[in-house]
Amino acid sequence: MKSTFCCSGTEPAPWLAGLRAALPQAQIELWQAGALPADYAVVWAPPQQFFDEQPQLRGVFAIGAGVDALLKLRLPPHATLVRLDDAGMAVQMAEYVCHAVIRHFRELDVYAADIRQGHWTFRKPRNRADFPVGVMGLGVLGARVAQALAHFEFPVLGWSRSAKAIDGVRCFSGSAQFHDFLAASRVLVNLLPLTPDTRDILNRATLSRLQPGGYVINVARGAHLVDDDLLALLDSGHLAGAMLDVFRTEPLPPEHPFWRHPKITITPHTSARTLRETSIGQIAGKIAAFERGEPVAGLVDREQGY
Ligand code: NAP
Ligand code: GLV
Repeated sequence: MKSTFCCSGTEPAPWLAGLRAALPQAQIELWQAGALPADYAVVWAPPQQFFDEQPQLRGVFAIGAGVDALLKLRLPPHATLVRLDDAGMAVQMAEYVCHAVIRHFRELDVYAADIRQGHWTFRKPRNRADFPVGVMGLGVLGARVAQALAHFEFPVLGWSRSAKAIDGVRCFSGSAQFHDFLAASRVLVNLLPLTPDTRDILNRATLSRLQPGGYVINVARGAHLVDDDLLALLDSGHLAGAMLDVFRTEPLPPEHPFWRHPKITITPHTSARTLRETSIGQIAGKIAAFERGEPVAGLVDREQGY
């Protein structure tokens, strides 16, 4: 069995060593133009040329959770596309989002600013019940995030395409329940995949439906958010702030207003990183299962786009 590795922005040597150790029976090579045909590919942001030269691929394994960029390419029509299935990302995402919600709810930035001025101040404690958190997307990451938030006793709501039941989470589904979900939320966390249905979903109309003093946490993809609409709602005061990890253009261009907006905190697409060792183990296990004809978790439905 032959596999090829083509992950831009990634140091290939440790991945190749890890995959070779985990799959000793496989021949695993770093892809280069004109390479021999392979059965499986391990990829992140490959060039179109990669797929054009490898039409026989049987399985394509992404080293991330989101496959929106891959689905923009012409993939081999018969290849099964598989995304990382947690692989240590869910706990990172839960940490990041709980941090963002708690930092906002407990006004920790306000305290930090006071302390920098040498002021020993107290603010009136806020009521947790006044900060319902809505999580858009209840998949591998969203469900974990929603459960983590519920442990802090925030009222937690969730929204997904199909109906769900998650302990401690008030679940909504489908477009018919979207407005009710937004109206019941004050803090909004986006963990949707980027698809034609979800592009631009965080816009003036949807964000206006959040409870006054709303707070937006976007950890999915930059193209979910209409940047100017967020800025307008922050400036009008309807939204209190935002914490953003993902952007339409990454790295965020130096002139972009998000860098310096006083109500926006940004991080450089780092909320849930691919963990190399865990991911190698997961992908090697899936390739082996695929070879044996066994079911594999994390299959992407190309029609649905995630
Ligand atoms: P996932 O397991 O595929 O879950 C996606 C969830 O979104 C599912 O609950 C799905 O509903 C729901 N959904 C999809 N389309 C919808 C629609 N039109 N309306 C309502 N709900 C919809 O994905 P995941 O692993 O949780 O990851 C989510 C996204 O996070 C990724 O696609 C990626 O873009 C992003 N991400 C970001 C980082 C980072 O570092 N910032 C890291 C990893 C991932 P159903 O359950 O009904 O199918
Ligand atoms: C990162 O953004 C991922 O989709 O894994």
